[in-house]
Amino acid sequence: MKVLVIGGGGREHAICWKLSQSRSVDKIYCCPGNAGIAQIAECIKVDQHDFQSLLDVVKYEWVDLTIIGPEDPLSRGIVDLFEKEGRRVLGPTKAGAQLESSKVFCKDLLRSHGIPTAEYQVFTSYLHAEEYIKFKGAPIVIKADGLAAGKGVFVASTIEEAFDALRIIMKDRAFGAAGDKVIVEECLQGEEASFMAFTDGKTIVPMVSSQDHKRIFDNDKGLNTGGMGAYSPAPILTPELEKTVMEKILEPTVRALRSEGITYKGVLYAGLMIRNGIPSVLEYNCRLGDPETQPVLSRLKTDFMEIAMAIAEGRLADIRIEWLPDPAVCVVISSKGYPGQYRKGDVITGLDKAQELEGVQVFHAGTSFRDDTVVTSGGRVLGVTATGKDIGAAKARAYEAVQKIHFDGMHYRKDIADRALKRP
Ligand code: AMP
Ligand code: GLY
Repeated sequence: MKVLVIGGGGREHAICWKLSQSRSVDKIYCCPGNAGIAQIAECIKVDQHDFQSLLDVVKYEWVDLTIIGPEDPLSRGIVDLFEKEGRRVLGPTKAGAQLESSKVFCKDLLRSHGIPTAEYQVFTSYLHAEEYIKFKGAPIVIKADGLAAGKGVFVASTIEEAFDALRIIMKDRAFGAAGDKVIVEECLQGEEASFMAFTDGKTIVPMVSSQDHKRIFDNDKGLNTGGMGAYSPAPILTPELEKTVMEKILEPTVRALRSEGITYKGVLYAGLMIRNGIPSVLEYNCRLGDPETQPVLSRLKTDFMEIAMAIAEGRLADIRIEWLPDPAVCVVISSKGYPGQYRKGDVITGLDKAQELEGVQVFHAGTSFRDDTVVTSGGRVLGVTATGKDIGAAKARAYEAVQKIHFDGMHYRKDIADRALKRP
């Protein structure tokens, strides 16, 4: 079979890598892909926003299944269009993707179905929001309703910070129409974890757990990023807690969506806050996490194409999904300046040496070719991922591989997975 993957980050490289091991996949296309993906797939330079050209690729190349990596095309209805054209596709429709593209939709759905999440109010008026913040006091969380590339959430420790956030969203309109509505939300305490599951809208199959590292510097200092590293499993998600998350959160969410007429197909990613063993939803994403996918798919034993086809065809209940026991750790290497303005075009060396190490996979994110040389072309450049007999061994291998790689201005955190190692 032929499969098309849309996107060009570390997540999509991990997806293509997994597909390349499938017995039933003969050919992988990726739009637009990156320098790493180009080694296992045919990369076609089509923008992820250009649905008509993507559809042309599917038609002219006889693609059997399209897998959508990022949230943006999902939230703009790529699945609706492909399904209308009779094409097999993996991901939720525009209505389902609202779980991520509208925080108000998500919170209202959770609240009206009694699914645990922070208390909140929605505002379209700046003055009313300001009054509510004064009434509630700090700490408090301010969120823009729409997609804001991960920058639309402000955890304010003082009232002044909360007013600043409100101004940025509603007056400066830093996120445009995504800030037409704001959510003012109770600030939850506890430990965060990511919980991803496959679903065809009826059956839900959890993936192994994982944890992201959002801040740019060690010890969770500095600005928020797309994610600087991840590991799997996350020890905080014990088997009992996973059962609770399935019963109290994921299953009711899929049922709630169905009651709204939405058959949600694809990946459901719940960002959770866990306190005293009790989980609440911080947010939902409508796709695989990046970089969580890199360690999670490194542990997948079952043929990924088989899972993808089962979801797209609504028969997930018929297959058994198995995982490898060895943990995995992914260390992201970023460009100088990221998550602010970053440099591009630096030559990357040592990729082969890193890749040769046992249990190591170097997933590319922001890379491209300049002639035959691999150069940096994005903020997050590589996701160096390793498995090992325990988290400590996986971490040691990942960092050994990182040491082999070089480009000017490269940055990485040195404490990925320490959180798991330090747990009692
Ligand atoms: P979100 O995009 O909603 O996950 O928010 C991004 C990050 O903001 C989360 O990963 C949390 O670290 C933080 N956050 C979001 N909502 C809350 C909340 N209600 N209480 C505390 N922290 C939050
Ligand atoms: N790593 C967080 C995300 O994919 O949204």
